[in-house]
Amino acid sequence: MAFIGFALGPLLLLSMASPACSCNEKEKASLLQFLTGLSQDEGLRASWQNDTDCCEWEGITCSGDGAVIEVSLAFRGLQGCISPSLGDLTNLQSLSLSYNLLTGGLPSELLASSSIVMLDVSFNHLNGVLKPQESNYSVANYRPLQVLNISSNLFTGEFPSGLWEKTSSLVVLNASNNSFHGLMPSSFCTISLSFAVLDLSYNKFSGSIPPGLGKCSALRVLKAGRNSLSGPLPDELFNASSLEYLSFPSNGLHGVLDGARIIKLKKLCHLNLGGNKLIGKIPDSIGQLKKLQELRLYRNNISGELPSALSNCTDLVTVDLKINKLSGELTKFNFSNLSNLKTLDLMENNFTGTIPENIYSCSNLTALRLSSNNLHGQLSPRIGELKSLSFLSLSLNNFTNITNTLQILKNSSTLNTLVIGDNFKGEAMPEDETIGGFLNLEVLSIPGEIPLALNKLTFLAKFNVSNNNLEGPIPTGGQLSTFTNSSFGGNPKLCGIIIDRPCGSAEAHPVRILSTEQTDRRVAFAIAFGAFFGVGALYDQIVLSRHFY
Ligand SMILES: *[C@@H]1O[C@H](CO)[C@@H](O)[C@H](O)[C@H]1NC(C)=O
Ligand SMILES: *[C@@H]1O[C@H](CO)[C@@H](O)[C@H](O)[C@H]1NC(C)=O
Ligand SMILES: *[C@@H]1O[C@H](CO)[C@@H](O)[C@H](O)[C@H]1NC(C)=O
Ligand SMILES: *[C@@H]1O[C@H](CO)[C@@H](O)[C@H](O)[C@H]1NC(C)=O
Ligand SMILES: *[C@@H]1O[C@H](CO)[C@@H](O)[C@H](O)[C@H]1NC(C)=O
Ligand SMILES: *[C@@H]1O[C@H](CO)[C@@H](O)[C@H](O)[C@H]1NC(C)=O
Ligand SMILES: *[C@@H]1O[C@H](CO)[C@@H](O)[C@H](O)[C@H]1NC(C)=O
Ligand SMILES: *[C@@H]1O[C@H](CO)[C@@H](O)[C@H](O)[C@H]1NC(C)=O
Ligand SMILES: *[C@@H]1O[C@H](CO)[C@@H](O)[C@H](O)[C@H]1NC(C)=O
Ligand SMILES: *[C@@H]1O[C@H](CO)[C@@H](O)[C@H](O)[C@H]1NC(C)=O
Ligand SMILES: *[C@@H]1O[C@H](CO)[C@@H](O)[C@H](O)[C@H]1NC(C)=O
Ligand SMILES: *[C@@H]1O[C@H](CO)[C@@H](O)[C@H](O)[C@H]1NC(C)=O
Repeated sequence: MAFIGFALGPLLLLSMASPACSCNEKEKASLLQFLTGLSQDEGLRASWQNDTDCCEWEGITCSGDGAVIEVSLAFRGLQGCISPSLGDLTNLQSLSLSYNLLTGGLPSELLASSSIVMLDVSFNHLNGVLKPQESNYSVANYRPLQVLNISSNLFTGEFPSGLWEKTSSLVVLNASNNSFHGLMPSSFCTISLSFAVLDLSYNKFSGSIPPGLGKCSALRVLKAGRNSLSGPLPDELFNASSLEYLSFPSNGLHGVLDGARIIKLKKLCHLNLGGNKLIGKIPDSIGQLKKLQELRLYRNNISGELPSALSNCTDLVTVDLKINKLSGELTKFNFSNLSNLKTLDLMENNFTGTIPENIYSCSNLTALRLSSNNLHGQLSPRIGELKSLSFLSLSLNNFTNITNTLQILKNSSTLNTLVIGDNFKGEAMPEDETIGGFLNLEVLSIPGEIPLALNKLTFLAKFNVSNNNLEGPIPTGGQLSTFTNSSFGGNPKLCGIIIDRPCGSAEAHPVRILSTEQTDRRVAFAIAFGAFFGVGALYDQIVLSRHFY
C-alpha cells in the first residue's frame, strides 16, 4: 500500500509539518463540486463545510501556502461520480479514491493533469472507456503522472495509445481486473524510460504479446494473466532484462520455452506461464536463473524430464508443473539443494519410479502433490522429517502398503489434508487402531457425489466443495447441515434444502447410503476412507488452491 520512492513523499511530509495557510476559494469550489457529484458521502459533508478552511477538511492535505496537494478518500463508502472539477486543483499531486463505490467514468482532466503524480481509483465500479485527452489539453503539457492504479473497476474498450503520449514519467500502471479488450498496449516504454510495472491481468486483451515490450529496459513486473493472448513469447521480450516478474497464466500462448532466450532474464524471480499451450522441454538453462523463486508452468503440454539443472535454482519456493506430459524417473532429480521449497506440485504427469529420498531434505516443504503419476513403492518414514507438511496428495499412483502409510503419517501434527485414494490396489484397510492420530486433519479425499457417511465426520472443521461439479442430493442431518450455502456454491447439479434448490423425484434418494450409528471420530474416518477410496484430481486441486494460492 505504501507509496514509496517518488518525489512526492518528502514533499508531503514537509507540507504537513508547516502550519497551513487557508485554502483558496477556487480550490474550495472545486472540492465542493466534487462533493456535489457524490450521491452518498458517509458524513464527508459534515467536515467539508463551505465556511471552513478546506485545508482542514477530512482527506485534504495542503502545501504550506494553502494549495491542495493531496486528496485521500479511500475506504469512505463514497457513491456517485468523480467530478472533473478535481482536475482544476492545479497543485494536486496525489489523488486516492480507492475502495469506494464510485460509478461513471474517469474524467480525462485527471489523466491529463499537469500536477498529479499518483492517481489511484482502484476498487470502484468505474466504467466506460478511457478517452485520450482532447487536443486542447495535450498542447505542450508535461504530465508528471508516475503511478496510475485503475485496477478492479469495470472499465471497457480498448487501451488507446494516444492516452500515453505525454506520460513520460509513468512508472506504474495497474489496469488489472477490468474489461479492457483489443491489443495489449506497449508504447509506455518508449515514452517513459523509467516505466517499471505493468499489470493487465484479468482483462480481455487478445492478439500477441507486443514485441515493443522488449524496449522496456526498466520493466521489472509484467503481468497479463487471464486474458486471451495468443502466439509465442516474442524474442524481443527477452531484451527486457530487468524483468523480475513475468506472468502470463491462463492465455492461449504457444511455442516452446526457449533456453537461449530465457537466460537473458537473469533477474527473474517469478515465472508463471501456466494454463497455456506451451510444448517442448523445460530448458536446462533454467538452472542459470539463480534468483528464481517461483516456477509455474502448470497446464501446458510440456514434455521431457525435470532438467537436473533446475536443482541449481536454490531460491525456489514454489514449483508448479502439474498437468503436463513430464516423464522419467523422479529419483533422477536431486531435490536436496532446494531447501527453500515450500510447494511442489507435479500432479498429472507421467513420472515413474519411487519418491526420491532426497526430497525429504526440503525441510520447509508444506505442500507436496504427486497424484496422477506412475509412481510406486512404499512411503518412507523419512517423510516425518517434513515438519511443516500440511498438504499431501499421492492419489492415483501405484503406492503400496496402506498400513505402513497411515502408520507413518498419523503422528504428523501439521498434516491437515491427506489425499491418498486410488493406490494400494487389492489391500485391505488396516485395523481401527492404526488410524488413530491425525489430530489436525481437516480434509480427506472424497469422490470430486457427496457420500452420506460424511455426515458422521464431526471432526471435519472446514468443509467446502464449491465449484466442483458435484451431482445429486446433499445428505441431511449431521454436520453437513450446519454448513452454509457457500460451501456448496458452483455445483449446478447439486440439490437439497441447504442450498435452497429442491431435489426432483429422480434425485430424491441419495445414491449411496452408508448406515453407521457410531459417530466416533475414528470409526467415521475409517468408513469414509474405506468406502470412498477413489478420488478425483479435481477435488485434490480445489483443496490445494484453498490452502496455498
Ligand atoms: C494502486 O497501485 C499503487 C502502485 O502499485 C499502489 O501503491 C497502491 O497501493 C495501489 N492501490 C491499492 C488500493 O492497492
Ligand atoms: C460558498 O460560499 C461562497 C461565498 O462565501 C459562495 O459564493 C458559494 O456559492 C458557496 N458555495 C457553495 C457550494 O455553497
Ligand atoms: C478546444 O479549445 C478551443 C479554443 O480554446 C475551444 O473552442 C474548443 O471547444 C475546445 N475543444 C474542446 C473539446 O474542449
Ligand atoms: C494490481 O491491482 C490488483 C488489485 O486490483 C492487485 O491484486 C495486484 O497485485 C496489483 N498489481 C501489481 C503489480 O501491484
Ligand atoms: C476484481 O474486482 C472486484 C470488484 O472490485 C473485486 O471484488 C475482486 O476481488 C477483484 N479481483 C481481483 C482478482 O483482484
Ligand atoms: C535486443 O537488444 C540488443 C541490444 O541489447 C539488440 O541488438 C537486439 O536487436 C535486440 N533484439 C531484439 C529482438 O529486439
Ligand atoms: C502435445 O504435445 C504432443 C507432442 O509432445 C503433441 O503430439 C500433441 O498434439 C500436443 N497436444 C496439444 C493439445 O497441444
Ligand atoms: C549448477 O551450477 C554449477 C555452477 O554454475 C555448474 O557447474 C553445474 O553444472 C550446474 N549443475 C547443473 C546440474 O546444471
Ligand atoms: C525454512 O524457512 C525459514 C523461514 O520460513 C527459514 O528461516 C529457513 O532458513 C528455511 N529452512 C531452510 C532449510 O531453508
Ligand atoms: C507413461 O510412461 C510409461 C512408461 O514410461 C509409458 O509406457 C506410457 O505410455 C506413458 N504414458 C503417457 C500418457 O505418456
Ligand atoms: C502396481 O504395482 C504392483 C506391484 O508393485 C504391480 O504388480 C502392478 O503391475 C502395478 N500396477 C500398475 C498399474 O503399474
Ligand atoms: C507394510 O508395512 C508394515 C508396517 O510398516 C510392515 O510391517 C509390513 O511388513 C509391510 N508390508 C509389506 C508387504 O511390505
